[in-house]
Amino acid sequence: MPALVPLRLGVNIDHVATVRNARGGRLPDPLRAAAIAAAAGADGITAHLREDRRHIVDADIDGLMRELKIPLNFEMAATPEMVGIALKHRPHAACIVPEKREERTTEGGLDAAGQHNHLKPMVAKLRDAGIRVSLFIEADARQLEAAVTLGAPVVELHTGRYCELGGAAQQAELARLQKGAALCAKLGLECHMGHGLSFADVAPIAAIPEVRELNIGHFLVGEAIFVGLEAAIREMRRIMNEARGTKA
Ligand code: PXP
Repeated sequence: MPALVPLRLGVNIDHVATVRNARGGRLPDPLRAAAIAAAAGADGITAHLREDRRHIVDADIDGLMRELKIPLNFEMAATPEMVGIALKHRPHAACIVPEKREERTTEGGLDAAGQHNHLKPMVAKLRDAGIRVSLFIEADARQLEAAVTLGAPVVELHTGRYCELGGAAQQAELARLQKGAALCAKLGLECHMGHGLSFADVAPIAAIPEVRELNIGHFLVGEAIFVGLEAAIREMRRIMNEARGTKA
């Protein structure tokens, strides 16, 4: 089998900030985690500035924009406040995610089709500022077609359900993601995936040829408690590369 195009790894550092905020001080520092991730082979850093600032805070985004040597993927809700912050910083990429205050994490994808009129001007503003816009959506033809209509060049397909399931149900969800990735290629969308991925379930996702980037956070930060962040990221890269038939 010929080697597939390389797959980028975006390391989400939100939960380094979660641990920091549990005590309200400055440590552990998400910027230090970002630097270690870059040294360990991450291609980018992802950070979600939530409306309630429960983990990443504004000063973290300031610091990342100032110090980061690899691209920042700024995860944001579709609100005027977040669009303003993105336009102020102009990160490499902005991923628009659905956000509900009461949820523990991002549950389900963005309704890109249903929110067309709300999203269209925001996507346009971000794009005009030179930010690569992605939409975090379900692997669903209607949502993918909506991403095209909205002018988003990238989509990130939600792998949360795939990670939670097992057996035949997980295989069915994997098939849905594979179909979604193939449709992305047909529609001219760059395909990313993420949410909930771990060593145990990343390989079949990494092997999907159309996928260009995975964004992984919670598992890596948890694994770092036991083996260190650098070792956790290097192992994730190794599994991704092996699944893909590519070298580091
Ligand atoms: N991609 C998106 C759009 C997300 O919202 C998240 C969670 O913040 C992730 C990827 C990473 O998910 P996890 O932390 O479960 O690896």
